[in-house]
Amino acid sequence: MKILVLGSGAREHAIILALLSEEAGHEILAAPGNAGIANDATIVELDANDPAAVTSFALSDNIGLVVIGPEAPLVAGVADALRERGIPVFGPGKAAAQLEGSKAFAKRIMESAGVPTGRAVRAHTRAEVEAALDELGAPHVVKADGLAAGKGVIVTEDRAAALAHADTYLPSGSVLVEEFLAGPEVSLFFLSDGDRVLPLSPAQDFKRLGDGDSGPNTGGMGAYSPLPWLLERFGGEDAFVDLVTRDIAEPVIRQLDAEGTPFIGLLYAGLILTEAGVKVIEFNARFGDPETQVVLPRLVDPLSALLLSAASGHLEDHARPAFADAVAVTVVLASEGYPSSPVTGRALTGLDAAAGVDGVHVAHAATAAADSGDGLVATGGRVLNVVGVGTTFAEARSRTYSALEHIGLEGGQFRTDIAARVVES
Ligand code: AMP
Ligand code: GLY
Repeated sequence: MKILVLGSGAREHAIILALLSEEAGHEILAAPGNAGIANDATIVELDANDPAAVTSFALSDNIGLVVIGPEAPLVAGVADALRERGIPVFGPGKAAAQLEGSKAFAKRIMESAGVPTGRAVRAHTRAEVEAALDELGAPHVVKADGLAAGKGVIVTEDRAAALAHADTYLPSGSVLVEEFLAGPEVSLFFLSDGDRVLPLSPAQDFKRLGDGDSGPNTGGMGAYSPLPWLLERFGGEDAFVDLVTRDIAEPVIRQLDAEGTPFIGLLYAGLILTEAGVKVIEFNARFGDPETQVVLPRLVDPLSALLLSAASGHLEDHARPAFADAVAVTVVLASEGYPSSPVTGRALTGLDAAAGVDGVHVAHAATAAADSGDGLVATGGRVLNVVGVGTTFAEARSRTYSALEHIGLEGGQFRTDIAARVVES
């Protein structure tokens, strides 16, 4: 099958590597891709956010499935345009993608579906923000009500910092002031065909820039999967996944369907396991980045069949996807200055040596061929992911970090404590 993957991050590289690992021998095309993706797929010159351009390319090039990686094409209506022309597409239409794009929409859907989440107040003015901060108390959580690539959120004890954050976003709309939810975070992905869901295996993401969860929120600095500590709390991964499927994913998908905005694609549930039960902090309408980089290498079933069945409304043909017992750890290498103002254009070295470490591969994010034609340069904030797979977390982790030692990027930053606690326990 000819599959077109839209996007340019390590998530899209991970999706492509999973599709290529199948025996079927798919032909993969990507737009816009990156230097790493260019080694594994055919790059096509195409504006991934232009519904008409993507549709006419898919028709003329006989594409059997389009997989949309990032949120921007979803919000631009690329999936709607493809679906209108009968082209199978994995990714929700514009209306359902609001589940990610509008925090207020997501809160309303959750309320209608009876899905547990923190209390939230939508504020349009500084006075409303102040009242909400006082009502909900510290720690304060303030979110921009729109797409901000994981960077529109502040969680702080400092009321003045919370207000200053609100001031940044109020001029362009409203903000959400939320109740702080305490507990470990879990990302759980569901494939949805519009009225049925199939869960994948849970992962944990490290959102803060620095070791020990210090520094600003980022798009995600590392991840691991599975989560062995779910055993103690829920009696195992399956029991946890069953609970979230029943109480969160299914009601949300049913609600969206009932409202005439069926969700076909990946439902990403960002969860906090509070003392009072599992609660949703956010939904995304796409695969998570970097969690995908640790979930897909463990997937046993062929990914293409799952995505195509979801896109065609036939997930009932599949049993719950199976995952290998192997564990996966990923660490993000980011540019100096990330997340506020990443320095770009610097040389990137040692990737072959890194990928030569047993059990390790590199998923590219912001990489491009150097103008000189010799080697690679970093072109953005999150540059690449080193992914290590092993039989234990100690093994996967040491493989990942020893591979990182081979990589050179002036000013490059990465966390040294990804999956450290899970190794200790
Ligand atoms: P979001 O973009 O909504 O996923 O928020 C980014 C990160 O901020 C989350 O992964 C959490 O670590 C943190 N966060 C967001 N909302 C809350 C909340 N209500 N309580 C505690 N932490 C939160
Ligand atoms: N890892 C967080 C996200 O994909 O939004």
